[in-house]
Amino acid sequence: MLDGFSIAIMAAGKGTRLKSRRPKVLHEIGGRALLLHVIAAAKELVPAARIYTIVGHEAERVQLAVAATGVKFVMQAEQRGTGHALQMVKAYFALGGEAVPENLLVLSGDVPLIRPETIEAICKLHVEEHAAMTILTAVPSDPTGYGRVLRKLADGVEVTAIVEQKALTPEQKDAKEINSGIYCFRTEKLFARLDSLSTNNAHGEFYLTDVAAMLVADGERVVAVQAESVDEVLGANTIAEMMHLDQAMRAAAAKRLMAQGVTIFRPDTCVIDAEVEVGPDTVIEPYVQLLGATKIGSESRVRSYSVVQNSVIGNGVLVRNGCVLDGAEVSDSAVLGPYAHLRPESRIGEGAHVGNFVETKKMKLGKGSKANHLNYLGDAEIGDGVNIGAGAITCNYDGVHKHLTKIGDGVFVGSDSTLVAPLTIGEGAYIAAGSCITHKVPAHALALGRSRQVTKEGWASRRKAARLVQDS
Ligand code: UD1
Ligand code: CA
Repeated sequence: MLDGFSIAIMAAGKGTRLKSRRPKVLHEIGGRALLLHVIAAAKELVPAARIYTIVGHEAERVQLAVAATGVKFVMQAEQRGTGHALQMVKAYFALGGEAVPENLLVLSGDVPLIRPETIEAICKLHVEEHAAMTILTAVPSDPTGYGRVLRKLADGVEVTAIVEQKALTPEQKDAKEINSGIYCFRTEKLFARLDSLSTNNAHGEFYLTDVAAMLVADGERVVAVQAESVDEVLGANTIAEMMHLDQAMRAAAAKRLMAQGVTIFRPDTCVIDAEVEVGPDTVIEPYVQLLGATKIGSESRVRSYSVVQNSVIGNGVLVRNGCVLDGAEVSDSAVLGPYAHLRPESRIGEGAHVGNFVETKKMKLGKGSKANHLNYLGDAEIGDGVNIGAGAITCNYDGVHKHLTKIGDGVFVGSDSTLVAPLTIGEGAYIAAGSCITHKVPAHALALGRSRQVTKEGWASRRKAARLVQDS
């Protein structure tokens, strides 16, 4: 934990350049909102009670989306620039409820790949250098759009000013070192200058970046430090920039899993969210998506074109091609697909099989049970060693309510059976193929629910003969 620091996260802006209705900081990369990434990094360094998130544009929506993190909020009702955002923080402390921290680390809600290690390093340098302001910088291949950091001496640590893209003079046009939008300040020294900022610039906004030159003019020390990796400080002002960061984040997720013994063929084709966990010796084939809070055990295999979201998969499980899982639990050694659809609260037992074009929802399939072809199984409790024949379905909905189907251990459900819930089938019972079952079936019984077959000998030949006569 960082002593003597609090953190302000600027997240009030609209994100005009995105041309989106969603507030910028709620756009997602790696399956998680930009702002949540920044808050997660901040929480590694200071307790949530010392993190001040500045909200404004669609403030309620933003607050709701990150409320669970426990951070505090500072309101910037009108968004008049990054300098104005910090003026709101100053006003918040002026209310007197909380002590002004010695140092304030400022993060941008739209710079999401920042690592806690990097933040910690700049805070340390800030203290060691006795700086009034410390700026995190980088030298990306294309600096267009960013503010540039001008150093006193090319190889020196001290800075003279930050100049925004639009204000660069012809001589400054080639400046390559960008301002990441991440800074440390001596809080008192920052607060003392915020009221002197002006809106006399291309955007008509209060620029926080102008504080750098103001401090230098007063003989204060302003220093800059370059981030180790450029990606980490890249901002997300457009959808294209965001997708670039998304790719970087997912590549990092795949790399982390591979380092833990997971084989991922063609990781560039897979979409893996930041929090996904996978055990060693599991194989992920090309074009797989692993999303949300998904967890997969070891020695399992997920074949191509499967999408697994918020699901827990055990060890030695085979997920064949094209399966869709959402909120499902799959026990060890189960086999799914190809093309199985497991909807929320599907619990598949150890060694069970769920085959092609089978849809499950809010159900439990017992140990070693099989539903291999063309089934719908919803609101059902199915025991161990059950065989569900091709095309059999549970009718769980009467148009108003959902009802439960209970199937005991060892039951054999013949193909194309229609099981009308509420229904109980006792253990070891047989359901004849093509039955419509509406009443309870006792254990070890046979239930038939279909019309008897009628066979008319020679019928087809007689019909053919009749036709020939007609046509002549
Ligand atoms: C800012 C910096 C620029 C830097 C870049 C890095 C300024 C003037 N410029 O430019 O030097 O290179 O970040 O990414 O600071 N915000 C508020 N309230 C406001 C305006 C913005 O909270 O009134 C928030 C935004 O939600 C965003 C962050 O501040 O998270 C940065 O604002 P943005 O408009 O994206 O600044 P840039 O133009 O990227
Ligand atoms: Ca930005």
